[in-house]
Amino acid sequence: MPLNKKIKELQEKRVKVLLGGGEQAIEKQKAMGKRTARERITSLLDENSFNEYDMFVEHDARDFDMDKKSLPSDGVIIGSGTIYGAPVAIFAQDFTVAGGSLGLMHSRKITKIMDHALKMRMPLIGINDSGGARIQEGVNSLAGYGEIFFRNTISSGVIPQISVILGPCAGGAVYSPALTDFVFVVDQISKMFITGPEVIKTVLGEEISMEDLGGARVHSEVTGNAHFFAMSEEECFDQIKKLITFIPWNNSQKARAFEPGEPKPEFDINKIVPADPTLPYDVKDVIRAIVDNSDFFEIMELYAKNLVIGFGRMGGRTTGFVANQPLEMAGVLDVDSSDKAARFIRYCDAFNIPIITLVDLPGYLPGVDQEHAGVIRHGAKVLYAYSEATVPKLTVILRKAYGGGYIAMSSRHLRADFVFAWPSAEIAVMGPEGAANIIFRKEIMSAADPDAMRKQKVEEYKAKFANPYVAASRGYVDAVIEPSETRKFLLHSIEVSENKDVPMPKKKHGLPPF
Ligand code: HXC
Repeated sequence: MPLNKKIKELQEKRVKVLLGGGEQAIEKQKAMGKRTARERITSLLDENSFNEYDMFVEHDARDFDMDKKSLPSDGVIIGSGTIYGAPVAIFAQDFTVAGGSLGLMHSRKITKIMDHALKMRMPLIGINDSGGARIQEGVNSLAGYGEIFFRNTISSGVIPQISVILGPCAGGAVYSPALTDFVFVVDQISKMFITGPEVIKTVLGEEISMEDLGGARVHSEVTGNAHFFAMSEEECFDQIKKLITFIPWNNSQKARAFEPGEPKPEFDINKIVPADPTLPYDVKDVIRAIVDNSDFFEIMELYAKNLVIGFGRMGGRTTGFVANQPLEMAGVLDVDSSDKAARFIRYCDAFNIPIITLVDLPGYLPGVDQEHAGVIRHGAKVLYAYSEATVPKLTVILRKAYGGGYIAMSSRHLRADFVFAWPSAEIAVMGPEGAANIIFRKEIMSAADPDAMRKQKVEEYKAKFANPYVAASRGYVDAVIEPSETRKFLLHSIEVSENKDVPMPKKKHGLPPF
């Protein structure tokens, strides 16, 4: 056959495969506000950068009449391309083909691109839209999931792994995303659950919609399984692209540097934090008053809002921010915010991203609910993550730093490299009211006017401890600085930390309080 005929044959074969599950299935997909798998890939990657592999792979299942069925590309598209020039490996499940369900060959395509990403040390993006294990393929489907989970784990901390949930993700389909670094969801489109509404109805007799069980909002606000929430696929892809600009390609590199720019003048750092320690303020404004161009990219915005995490740039370099949020529950640490902080700290540490911690909290949240929910175990994750992290760690104490909260929020004692405090900082075992009630109880009780005595003792305690100077006199704080000096001190600290090198004792791995 002459070459041009062979090329035509190839083109015809491609056209057939590109139709996926057929026009009807594609229409159904579009009616739900969803794009097809290939459309998703091409709109996420740089124009014309996508190279598809394994287009002609087909399943080889035999049971339940599967031998009579063709499943184009076996319901998953794989390949690689670039985002703003950064190489990425990618797979996207095609719901129009057998509901994107995962059979053996489908899983082999995914593991092939995962191996490729790890070998080439580039980020992996998985677009998930799947009914879970392909029921007709039995244990082969389960084996496929196991092979994926194993690779997610081995690649963890070596290459960035990003999961995008763009459809139902049931059963095994949710555990691979759960093992990856960042999970993106879209309102009304994304669903994640281990056992679906049908199973719940059968086993428990309860009726619940897919949305209420595991919709995008549920995972962004309640479970913490999702890190980014968007109203449309388009917005979601913009978020992914932005994230890619902040992270390195792998753990032996640093994130790409950008041209630095000053924060916007509308964020006046002298005016954000109220003098009265009981008044709230938005700590994100403090971050915006510090970072380049006031550009702060928040992560898990809707979950455990009492703690803020995200990326910004300092002098053009990606920096992770961890900050107590006085607007929510006075910025306390609790079970959920501890998990949120600890995971992010470990991410930054794995990928060579310096961490800036902004402190203003009354401590860990007291109460039976928190104790029974395991605040000891979860809270300990923060101590572990900060202690273990060897990337540059910079701390600024804005206002309250009481008790365990002081220690946990990247204190000198957990080996922060630089600790700065504003003159408004109060570093003590607990707040003045509580402290005076305990240590001066006898004097207060026996006084002619207990209220007046309490006030006097609170003032005495405040004068002694509600300031940064006791900690500064011990060297626990390196410098007491004016708010307007914060960016200058942080920029310099990051610069001198460029070649930080901290040897750790030899071990297989530690045992963080998972
Ligand atoms: C085979 C599947 C499938 C699956 C969907 N399909 N899920 N085929 N195995 N798991 C097929 C359907 O038969 C249908 O084929 C097509 O995909 C579209 O599915 P619909 O049901 O028509 O779509 P929709 O109404 O949108 O509902 C989507 C859905 C539902 C919610 C995902 O299909 C569903 O509940 N599927 C089963 C989900 C599930 O329980 N998975 C868990 C598997 S066990 P046709 O030919 O009619 O177009 C598991 C364990 C792994 O994953 C554990 C590892 C730790």
